[in-house]
Amino acid sequence: MDDLGRRDLLKGAGALVALHAAGLSSPVAAGAAPDPAFAWGVASFDPTATSVLLWTRLAVSGSPPVELSWTIARDEALTDVAASGSVEVSPATDGCAIVEATGLSPDGTWWFAFITEDGARSPVGRTRTMRTAAVERLRLGVVSCSRYASGGFAAYRALAEREVDLVVHVGDYIYEDGKAGERPHEPPEELVALDQYRARYAQHRLDPDLQALHARHPMVAVWDDHEIAGNAWRGGAPGHDEATDGPWIDRLRAAGQAYSEWVPGRTSRSSVDGRLQAWRTLSLGGLAELVVLDTRSWGRDRQPASAAELGGPPEGGAPGSSRTILGEDQMRFATERLAGTDRAPRPPWVLLANQVMFHPLEVPVPVGSLAQAVEDEGFLVVDGKAVNPDQWDGYPQDRDRLVEAAGDQGGVVVLTGDVHSSWAWEGPTTAAGGGPAMVELVTPSVSTEALADRLPVPAGAVEAALSGLSDDLSHVELSSHGYLLVDLDADRVQGEWWYVDPDDASSARFGAARSAPRAVPMRLTEVDEPLPEPQGRSAPTPTTSRKAASPSSEPDDDGGDLPALVAGAGAVAVTALAGATVALRRRRPRPSP
Ligand SMILES: [Fe+2]
Repeated sequence: MDDLGRRDLLKGAGALVALHAAGLSSPVAAGAAPDPAFAWGVASFDPTATSVLLWTRLAVSGSPPVELSWTIARDEALTDVAASGSVEVSPATDGCAIVEATGLSPDGTWWFAFITEDGARSPVGRTRTMRTAAVERLRLGVVSCSRYASGGFAAYRALAEREVDLVVHVGDYIYEDGKAGERPHEPPEELVALDQYRARYAQHRLDPDLQALHARHPMVAVWDDHEIAGNAWRGGAPGHDEATDGPWIDRLRAAGQAYSEWVPGRTSRSSVDGRLQAWRTLSLGGLAELVVLDTRSWGRDRQPASAAELGGPPEGGAPGSSRTILGEDQMRFATERLAGTDRAPRPPWVLLANQVMFHPLEVPVPVGSLAQAVEDEGFLVVDGKAVNPDQWDGYPQDRDRLVEAAGDQGGVVVLTGDVHSSWAWEGPTTAAGGGPAMVELVTPSVSTEALADRLPVPAGAVEAALSGLSDDLSHVELSSHGYLLVDLDADRVQGEWWYVDPDDASSARFGAARSAPRAVPMRLTEVDEPLPEPQGRSAPTPTTSRKAASPSSEPDDDGGDLPALVAGAGAVAVTALAGATVALRRRRPRPSP
């Protein structure tokens, strides 16, 4: 750092102390207002044991680039400085500054801020470094699906107020659509070009609840389809028309660039065509590894369009080949991480950050016109059962390869989003059949319309019908928004669903929990109470415990006749679910008025 930067930093540190004394240094605190120059707040991403990516954004309109100083310290007043430096900000990155703070010690809590040359200061953010050795306990927040237009981001604020080591975002951080909603999207049209994607991220990052989350916890994020286009695959998307929207690769590169600027990670670009390579792995210390998968735009072949295509080769594929959801290189990476190698043996837990439902979900449908209606919605009907070809069900050979690679070691947890509802699955099991060696925990949406909102029948009836479909399904809840907590120790994983009304963070409540041992068979059992917050950290405001609707509970008092629905029309209810799922994913965005 040059002398000018050091002077500014020292000058800024004094002012930060003053800010702290004034109670303005914690962006989580009510009423905290960042300096207008840093209206988009601060964030941190992809921590290792000794480093972390720090982020902020400054509105810059032209050259020359603006110099920013940054500092990271052991205390909130930023007086015990561990590392500092400077970074240039320019329109080339939309004003986003991303720096890697290195030389930190493991298992630390850190505070950081940015300062301009003329003394304008960012809010102070907090972050963490991971451990190097075995750790007794690890706690993650898992989130997905925050459509700005659908409602508030109170789930993000509620999670900001918890104590977690890391937040994992498994996709749909933004939505590309141009539909109207409770909060108008900026820009109002569907996103196609770089400046449009950038503007949508900027709108999100002005949201105070999302800012609170980023200011308090480091995040590892990976995109799904709506950061690009609905139901995207590597070569296109159903709603993308090259005649009007331009070449797909241009859109994919634009979406990837904006994502990298606003939601950075230790990612790279394809040397072939410049698309974002989001899949990667992060060590969470001796206890766990986070394997981040991109099931969307890296290697995914187009979704099978018919039952005949399911399990067969992709367009132009060799006879005997099969559609892939990961692509060969990512599959090789994922199977190595799941199996472990002599060079890099796997830790006790492997967590897969994944987008679309991994476990098979096959829903019986009546024959005749209803089956046709389900197919018209985009489901495939195979042997009288509907499957969603956009999920791993559309790519069963890839799923089998991962399951076999994971083997019977146990300790695999799939973390999934995408379906705007809460699920817990055991398995799938290996062909050897030693019992489930993995579980899947699905987080509900932060704000995007819940699955239940589109059902023509009570959610409880559909949950009951679904729960009868598979012994592997331990929990399903279709109505609530919120976040998932995943708590790990050497012997067990516990998933807790915390439900939060999108516009009221104080509504956060314990919804349900399931626990499984690390050892095979990984059977999920219901848990009545949440685990206590980690010792030595601040506890959240106590919330009202309310058991979530479970498959065995009565539906909400909204006129549904559960026995009749389950016995006589269960399939219809589930069919409605199938239709609603597809409708949620396939709606062609319309320009708002
Ligand atoms: Fe979503």
